Amino acid sequence: RERLMGRIREQLRAQDAVLVAHYYTAPDLQILADETGGIVSDSLEMARFGYEHPGRTVVVAGVRFMGETAKILSPEKRVLMPDLEATCSLDLGCPPDEFAAFCDQHPDRTVVVYANTSAAVKARADWVVTSSIAVDVIRHLHERGEKILWAPDKHLGGYVQQQTGADMVFWDGACIVHEEFKAIELDKVRAEHPDARILVHPESPAGVVAQADVVGSTSQLLKAVQTMDAQTFVVATDAGIFHKMREAAPDKTLLEAPTAGRSATCSSCAHCPWMAMNGLRSLAGTLETGANEIHVDPGVAEQALVSLGRMLEFGR
Ligand code: 13P
Ligand code: SF4
Repeated sequence: RERLMGRIREQLRAQDAVLVAHYYTAPDLQILADETGGIVSDSLEMARFGYEHPGRTVVVAGVRFMGETAKILSPEKRVLMPDLEATCSLDLGCPPDEFAAFCDQHPDRTVVVYANTSAAVKARADWVVTSSIAVDVIRHLHERGEKILWAPDKHLGGYVQQQTGADMVFWDGACIVHEEFKAIELDKVRAEHPDARILVHPESPAGVVAQADVVGSTSQLLKAVQTMDAQTFVVATDAGIFHKMREAAPDKTLLEAPTAGRSATCSSCAHCPWMAMNGLRSLAGTLETGANEIHVDPGVAEQALVSLGRMLEFGR
């Protein structure tokens, strides 16, 4: 482990490269990103940091849409990822052709897509949002009298509609990780820990979101652990977040929200299989060989930059 980490530090320095990691990646990658002047964050801040950083190479430890976003925002930079096969069920469940046909059926609606989509889907959209600003963007559009076509996460979309009262039609997509959180079991955990605060990522089903004290992006949930006056938290998001939560609040008790898959052999089932494809070995290999570079068709990138640019501007 130490040798691999040393090789990665050395390569990052030699190549004027910065490591941008998501909270769901392995703790070692998060440690390296912090140590070397990179960032560990949610998907909005990852995009912003990669864009604003002066380094010539951005290495994205996360899933493919995050690498594509970095490339679209900074076409002049080299964007590498430890594994190009690291995708996302929301992205996989929203093929660009079918999505374009869905949009064509609703020409009167403003098209808003979640960041967890391909570059081609973003290119067809008017707006891109992440979970940290989805409610604010839709409220803004609703107040302007716009009707919304939302894709692809139906749970996040339903939560946003409930918060804003906007007129929305939905694509039928879900995150395979967050969809596993179970409302009935969470209710039992709340009964066992009546003083605990419940923190939920909005990709979770409505029955889980309804029990939350805080609903938010990964960064917003982390902030809640740091700032809320409570000793115990039950957390409904990918278990990767516990690395930063423990670091930020070492004296607090952090419990994983129950999932359907929990069993004697799987104590932490809420872990994205695609985020898990990022490892020290693949990261070192990518940096040493230059493999796994992200390329986005320039025409698609130019289109997608419009909707992504609105996201970055709005989030300021
Ligand atoms: P965040 O923007 O909250 O980091 O979410 C990204 C993601 O993929 C959650 O599953
Ligand atoms: Fe996609 Fe869910 Fe994995 Fe996030 S946790 S990258 S939404 S599959």
